[in-house]
Amino acid sequence: MTTFWHAFADMHAIETGGELVVDHGEGVHVWDEDGKRYVDATAALWYCNVGYGREEIGEAAYRQLTKLPSYSTFGNLSNRPAIELAERVGGLAPVEGSKVFLTSGGSDSIDTATKMARRYWQLLGQPERTMLVTREHAYHGMHVAGTSLAGIEANAAGHGPLVGDVVKVTWDSPADLREAIERAGAERVAAFFCEPVIGAGGVFAPPEGYLQEVRAICRETGVLFVADEVITGFGRAGDWFASTRWGLEPDIITCAKGITSGYLPMGGVIAAPWVAEPFWKPDTGMWRHGYTYSGHATAAAAALANLDVMEREELAKRALQLEQDLAEALAPLAEHELVGEVRSGTGVLAAVQLDADVLASDPTTPARLVVACREHGVLTRALGIGALQISPPLVMNDVELGELVEGISGALNSV
Ligand SMILES: Cc1ncc(COP(=O)(O)O)c(C=O)c1O
Repeated sequence: MTTFWHAFADMHAIETGGELVVDHGEGVHVWDEDGKRYVDATAALWYCNVGYGREEIGEAAYRQLTKLPSYSTFGNLSNRPAIELAERVGGLAPVEGSKVFLTSGGSDSIDTATKMARRYWQLLGQPERTMLVTREHAYHGMHVAGTSLAGIEANAAGHGPLVGDVVKVTWDSPADLREAIERAGAERVAAFFCEPVIGAGGVFAPPEGYLQEVRAICRETGVLFVADEVITGFGRAGDWFASTRWGLEPDIITCAKGITSGYLPMGGVIAAPWVAEPFWKPDTGMWRHGYTYSGHATAAAAALANLDVMEREELAKRALQLEQDLAEALAPLAEHELVGEVRSGTGVLAAVQLDADVLASDPTTPARLVVACREHGVLTRALGIGALQISPPLVMNDVELGELVEGISGALNSV
């Protein structure tokens, strides 16, 4: 009998089938409690960008924990690591003068961005701008706002009424976004939520020019462009942000994961100065929003140490190289009879998509393949559309990349 209720899990299957207990990690590897070593194909859940075993992050956290674990940042209360982290992230942001609202993770960031966008329009005297536009395949976290924005249908189903005024468009067509805004009337639309590279929905890189076009449509219609960089932020897209790589200058950016590489939970919302401005005006007063752990001092200290590592080792630049190496290394897998295609080449983000006929004839293939990968020393997971997630730590070297591909290849041959 297990008391621990897992996230995204069929608990009956876990009670009967057991758990895989991950015990420790070093670099791009993790070990289970039986001492079996795995190459971590997914950087846990897309987050361990700097790899495991970074003592300096642990030491920074320890120093802060014993000095002051955290303190409320409500009202005029503050702590030094939170102030420094906001300044550091603001300095890396694509738009100069951005403001940074700290949260406990990606779902918090999405919830905050949703409320920030709607509140922004209220403050500007356009309260009817409440509509939120999302895309098919989108994953924006699992708070109620993020669930309502889900482009992965199964993630939204089964919970009764969610947040209203959400419209979904196709993932790859700027024309579709324009049409949706026109149909609703731009004066009704608050924001467009966009993962620069779709992650959990299956790893889909934007078609050439897509991001620039949707950014321009938002600018033209006044709709706030929210880049959900929870996965792509902090190096994974081959730059500090996907938005800096592609020159997007979003109105709002959501981030989490790579900000601490998962050493502690932390997220943030980066607001361009024009979005923050009405909130900071003399007569606006308090924005009634925030979390107990907004600006958590120890998480912020860990984030700062993580960013030190990223900067010193130029991991965003390294990611740009790994993006190519990963694409080249994975390419031969596309020839395998079970594989439909390999999506890769945009950031350290890839998916080995199983063939549609294989999936139709045996829907258990992805789950069996994940088990086979484990047997071959690769820890990965299946994304909903029958693809293996490949998003290793950004520090992966050639030998480890070889180990990853060999493991997957062996697993494909064995199922
Ligand atoms: C694009 C995106 N947005 C938001 C989230 C939610 O983040 P969290 O799970 O930290 O709440 C995720 C998580 O994977 C994500 O991939």
